Parts: sequence; structure tokens; C-alpha cells
Amino acid sequence: MKVAHIAAEMAPIAKVGGLGDVVGSLSRALKKQKVDTFVILPKYKIINTQCIKNLKIIKNDLKIFEKNKWQNNKVFQGYVKNVKVYLIDPEKHYFNRDKIYGYKDDVARFLYFCKCALEFLKSNIKDIDVLHLHDWHTAFMAPYYKEIYSKEEHLNIKSIVLSIHNLGYQGQCMAKQLEDIDVNPKLFLHSKKLGHPKKPKTINLLKGGLIYSDAIIPVSPTYAKEILTKKHGHQLSPMLKKFPKNKIKGILNGIDYKTWNPKKDKSLAQNYSSTSSIETILKAKELNKEKLRKYLNLKDKNVPIIASIGRLAEQKAPKLIKHAILKSLKKNAQFVLLGTPFSKEISHTFHKLKRDLKNNRNVSINFKYDECLCHMIYAACDFIIVPSIFEPCGLTQIIGFRYGALPIVRKTGGLADTVFDLQNPKIPKNKKNGFTFKNVSIEELDKTLNRAIKFWYEKQEKFQTQIKKNMKINHCWQKSIKKYIAIYKRLIK
Ligand code: GLC
Repeated sequence: MKVAHIAAEMAPIAKVGGLGDVVGSLSRALKKQKVDTFVILPKYKIINTQCIKNLKIIKNDLKIFEKNKWQNNKVFQGYVKNVKVYLIDPEKHYFNRDKIYGYKDDVARFLYFCKCALEFLKSNIKDIDVLHLHDWHTAFMAPYYKEIYSKEEHLNIKSIVLSIHNLGYQGQCMAKQLEDIDVNPKLFLHSKKLGHPKKPKTINLLKGGLIYSDAIIPVSPTYAKEILTKKHGHQLSPMLKKFPKNKIKGILNGIDYKTWNPKKDKSLAQNYSSTSSIETILKAKELNKEKLRKYLNLKDKNVPIIASIGRLAEQKAPKLIKHAILKSLKKNAQFVLLGTPFSKEISHTFHKLKRDLKNNRNVSINFKYDECLCHMIYAACDFIIVPSIFEPCGLTQIIGFRYGALPIVRKTGGLADTVFDLQNPKIPKNKKNGFTFKNVSIEELDKTLNRAIKFWYEKQEKFQTQIKKNMKINHCWQKSIKKYIAIYKRLIK
């Protein structure tokens, strides 16, 4: 079975958020199950080539007709932790920039990439069992293949799968943008296809991916249900609800157990594992706290550390995160934030907060993504807080488990599938692992944060046994990968 993953990110070579982690670890997990897998990505300027083995040019002349001109592209091939990757390198100034996204011409850049990927598959690979797309950036490949490429002779794709890491980003654009890549927009404009139901000249690339794919995989079972509701369906729920039941199947993400392994993690002051005694784990976490506090210039004192790690986007409820910081300080806890602001407004709020708290040595606000610091925080913190408005899966709570941190989360998407409240009598004892609240509300967040901090101060022994229990929760890819393979097999039968 030959499976091609096409995506905008892949950790560790090109990552903005969870999408990158998942494309990296999922492709590796497939490879381990002996599925013939490769990944195609743009060759960004910022790609981390140190993590690519045997990188070489395999094609010099991938020609693409765009904006009435022939554009030339190179294709590189290499291996990222044993997974074959192809990197598309346009001569055009599309990916040779300082960031992966966030440009006015993002739609044009990724439409161009979709065309390059299909042209490359046509010239160099030819037969593919599963074309696996991720999010809006590559979703257009599904309608593009089925309406155009499949009618030619040279490319044969048996089935198309689309993973949804975030339904909120859809790649809406004017239909005439398709003309730039030499595609007739009329083919797709109908509202039953990519067309916007109310704006006659607008198309939606993700919608096209959803309609033309053979299977849709949201990244958790709860998110798969949520996208059918008005609240989380981002205008697409009426259509999604009409799809055959077995077209949408939520599968929970795993994490890469090699990357996230407190037993071997080189960023830690002291390694530890779920099989160590509680005393050893505590001692190690203590040393890791010491290292983190020194590194971030936090006061060295015996209080809990609460952490928030990830993109600071609207979806992540930045207002609640800000509130959690201030509240933690009042309640005698320390707070560490590692996050990249995703809008000017959010950036402004958090930079101001950082300035206001400049002299407070119980809080550390960090904007630059720093992989090593990220590992240090997981190993040191007592709680990971994720109050998201919606969260397709969420990886930080899962990594938190593995490093012996207790999650404080809002019950949504993958957070609802993985975190179970320690103080809810209705939940079976062996499932309990953190603190949860239901609504996006400051009061509910407050109460939950209070419960967590109180638990740390008053039930220290229980807290300690819970750390060890959490470290044993298994979220490696092995379980989920079987579900992916089952879908692939069903589709190509
Ligand atoms: C996106 C989602 C996040 C998910 C990740 C990987 O970043 O927002 O919830 O964990 O993709 O699927």
C-alpha cells in the first residue's frame, strides 16, 4: 500500500503547531507498520535541513503553468527519521520567506503547491493507493485530482483521505484565483461544490476537500461530533451532516514517544520514567524545577508551577489564559507561558501583560518558540492549562501526562476525550487524571484553577500518586495507527 501525505508542516523540519507534530509522527508510525509512506512539503527557507538525511535534488525541471507563464521548480528528496520526504522548491518567491504562513498570498502559495504536488506525483510516482491531505492548505488536491487529473492517463490515485486538524481555517478566496493555476473556476463554483452558498464569486478550498475526499478524519472522536454542530461547524455543519455516516471518523492523535520521553530527554536536568518510584520521580521533577526557575529567573520556592504552551490564537481562549496567569499569582502559584501570538491584538495584550509583570518573579512569559525550553517546562510543571474555546485534539495535555503534569482543561474536542476530572464522583477512579470545566467562562475557570491549586497544597500525597498514574497513560501512536490503516484498507478494497 502506497500512501502519500501532503501537508504544510512536518516536525521537526517545518513546524508551527500541532499539525506539524502529527504529520511527522503519524508518517513515522505508518512506516513502522510497514506501510510505504512518504510526505511532500514545500521547501521553506526556514526548513531545518540538519534533521534531513541524504538531502539531494532529484528533479530540476518540474514545470508549472501559473499566471500565464511557465515556472520552474526543483524537487529535493531526503529522509526525516526514516520517512522519505519530497520538498518542492519553486524558483518563484513563494516559500523562500521567513515564516511558513501569515502572508497575504497564502492561498496563491498553497494552490501553487497543490499543483506542484500533483504534477510531481504524475511525473515521478504515478500510482498511489491513498492520497492523505491535511487541512485547507492541501485540501484542493481532492477536487483538482477528481475533476481534472483523474481524467488524464498518467496519475492513478485510488482514494483520498482528508485529516481535519482545524475546521476554522478554510482557505476562502475568489474563484478567479483558480485561473492563476490554469484551472477553469466554473468547474467548481457551484454551491454544491466549492462555491460559497451566498457569495457567488467566492470558493472555499477546505469545503472542496471535504466533498471530494473519500474519508474525513477529524483528530478526535469528540471533535468529529462537534463539527456537525452549529457552534463548532464553522458554517459547514449543514453540509457535513448530510454526508454518509461512515465518511467521517474521528481518530485521536498520538504523540511521538521518542521525542517526548522523560527517560531520555536531553533537555532535562534529571531524567525519570513511569517505572521509577514516586520518590525518584519527585526528586527528578524537583531538579527540573530548579533548572527551569534558574533559566527563567523565577523565585526558588515551594509553590506549584502552572504552564501554558502553544499558539496564542483566538481558539485557545487567550482571555482565559491571561486570567489564569493573574489568578495563579494571587493563589500563590507560579506561571510559565510559552506561546506565539497569532494576531496583533493578542500580541499586544500579552506584551503589555509581560511589561506589567516585569518585576514579578513568579511569572515568566515567553514568545519565542524554543524546543528545549518547551521540554524543560513539561518536566518541571505541576499543571498544564488548556482552556480552549475549541480544540480538535490538543497535544499539550497528552505530553503533560507523560511528563507527570496534571491537566486543567475545558471539556471540548480532544480535551474531552483525554482528560477526566479527579473530583467528579461519576467518573471511574482509574480514568481520573486532571481538572475540567464545561463552559468558556471566567468563573468556571476560576473555580477549577482553585480546585487544582488547593489539591496541590492540601492533598500533596494524592497529587504525587496521580503524577505517576498519569505518566502511565498510553497515548502512543500504536493504537490510533491501526484505525488509520483500517480506513485505508477499506477504501482501496
Ligand atoms: C491543530 C489543532 C490541535 C491539534 C493539532 C494536531 O493544531 O488546533 O487541537 O492537536 O492540530 O492535530
